[in-house]
Amino acid sequence: MRYWLVIPAAGIGQRLGAPRPKQYLEILGRSLLEWSIASFATDERCDGIVVALAPGDPWWPAICARLARPVLEVAGGAERSDSVRLALEALASRVEGDPWVLVHDAARPCVTRDEIDALLAGVAGHPAGGLLALPLADTLKRQVEAGAGPVVVALTEPRQGLWRALTPQLFRLRPLLDALRAAARAGRAPTDEAQAIEWTGLGQPRLIPGAAANIKVTTTADLALVATILAARSAAGTAT
Ligand code: C5P
Repeated sequence: MRYWLVIPAAGIGQRLGAPRPKQYLEILGRSLLEWSIASFATDERCDGIVVALAPGDPWWPAICARLARPVLEVAGGAERSDSVRLALEALASRVEGDPWVLVHDAARPCVTRDEIDALLAGVAGHPAGGLLALPLADTLKRQVEAGAGPVVVALTEPRQGLWRALTPQLFRLRPLLDALRAAARAGRAPTDEAQAIEWTGLGQPRLIPGAAANIKVTTTADLALVATILAARSAAGTAT
């Protein structure tokens, strides 16, 4: 099963308060973005990479120069879903047929080859595509509508059957592009690719269990955790 890798990397990710977007923060001499694409860039099944970038991104060219894969660059959009849609538009105008596209966040540096293999194997033969996800382990609390006082519990939500969506997510190019176009026309921004497919009502993406280490870096605590995971893998010789 061959695929194109799509990386939305146009976010400015300033919640970390760092002087550069989070995907360009470095761990062990490599940016998060490089860690995030390493397992795909060395995968024989990857036909190329489409990356959505913020205007004037000064960090990408040096990373791109080291990639031994065809690369398409596009300008990202206002929302993550816009960036993915614009990347898919560029790909759709350049390739024949309906290849598989694997969409992965630029700030998920701990994805492993085992997870990619599990996703590809699990989604093969499932036309609606699929995604890595994790069953919820914690008890879920819903807060009372935010007010001036302390935040308090309104109720406990049943967690049975709930999963956290991760990336990569794997779909056929043209149905995913159609789904993202329809969402954009309706003024809706899905927070992952699977949601856009769900909205079409045309299929139910498959949930493939991912790894707890496959976290998206959002806070400084995430960054520290990711650094520990990658350092341990490097020491053990299992980093990609
Ligand atoms: O901000 P968040 O963590 O949700 O971003 C997830 C991914 O989407 C990141 O890789 C980020 O660079 C990307 N993104 C994008 N275009 C946007 C917003 C986010 O490519 N407008």
